[in-house]
Amino acid sequence: MFVDSAQIIGKKIWSDWVLLSLKTYKIAEQARPGQFIMAKVNDSFHPLLRRPFSIHNVSSGEIEIFFQIVGIGTTILSEKKVGEKLNIIGPLGKGFNITSSVQNKEYYLIGGGRGIAPLFFLAKEIKKAGGKPYVLYGAKTEKDLPLLKKFWDEEIQVYPSTEDGTLGWHGLITELFEHKLKERNKIEKIFVCGPHEMMKKIALIAEKNKLDAEYSLESIFGCGIGACWGCVVKLRREKEKWVKACSEGPVFSGKEIIW
Ligand SMILES: Cc1cc2nc3c(=O)[nH]c(=O)nc-3n(C[C@H](O)[C@H](O)[C@H](O)COP(=O)(O)OP(=O)(O)OC[C@H]3O[C@@H](n4cnc5c(N)ncnc54)[C@H](O)[C@@H]3O)c2cc1C
Ligand code: FES
Repeated sequence: MFVDSAQIIGKKIWSDWVLLSLKTYKIAEQARPGQFIMAKVNDSFHPLLRRPFSIHNVSSGEIEIFFQIVGIGTTILSEKKVGEKLNIIGPLGKGFNITSSVQNKEYYLIGGGRGIAPLFFLAKEIKKAGGKPYVLYGAKTEKDLPLLKKFWDEEIQVYPSTEDGTLGWHGLITELFEHKLKERNKIEKIFVCGPHEMMKKIALIAEKNKLDAEYSLESIFGCGIGACWGCVVKLRREKEKWVKACSEGPVFSGKEIIW
């Protein structure tokens, strides 16, 4: 874990979606898919708490974060300019588990809305290791799917879905997942990130189909480093137990999550 004053070296905005590229050698070197950073969005005390963002992409000495503008912190972050510095802590948490025998195995990566953020890095790593990632990318409408081209550029198969039918599968990403399961019956594992209700429905389908699954959970992170207990989630381990999502997660096995 490092604290870094990372220079913003790139920025793209699509309505309320933002992609920031940050120069940060040490964090980039150690980052794994599913891990996150905590960003101090302002030099003043407002907002006081750092905000958590998944590591969306890593390339030589750089990381990217991809976020939706939803409130005060993300608004301030969206107004940062290329050349400015951003104070970040990372890489934090435990990410997705990709086994060493990924070669030729098939995976569904299911991302709803901003939940797509960590799955780009994961898809790239699975592909690099010889596995086959198939990405399901769902949103309300076409304009909320700004990352499609990024997946195409990496030659990663991506299936979009929109609730209003403006692009791809017309309906919920959970329905698209059920449909896609009929096409492939040798899925090794699924990796999921998105709104709680979406993940809960995916978990039911995964259980019905006896699929191994990992989910990246979102809760309110006060510190991101295991110090405040603000982020606890209830898990099924030897017995039911509250654990800190920031340090023991945010990625957990489907077998232990109590939805
Ligand atoms: C591990 C993790 C990884 C995340 N990765 C991404 C990502 O890659 N891209 C992305 O768009 N979003 C991501 N989020 C959510 C993101 O952190 C929140 O949207 C952001 O903190 C909201 O800040 P705000 O000040 O703009 O919103 P606020 O005005 O504070 O609140 C708006 C909404 O954001 C939620 N929120 C506020 N603070 C936090 C917090 N500290 N932790 C979690 N939720 C919060 C509130 O419950 C509320 O629903 C992630 C969250 C977690 C826990
Ligand atoms: S966010 Fe503080 S302990 Fe997890």
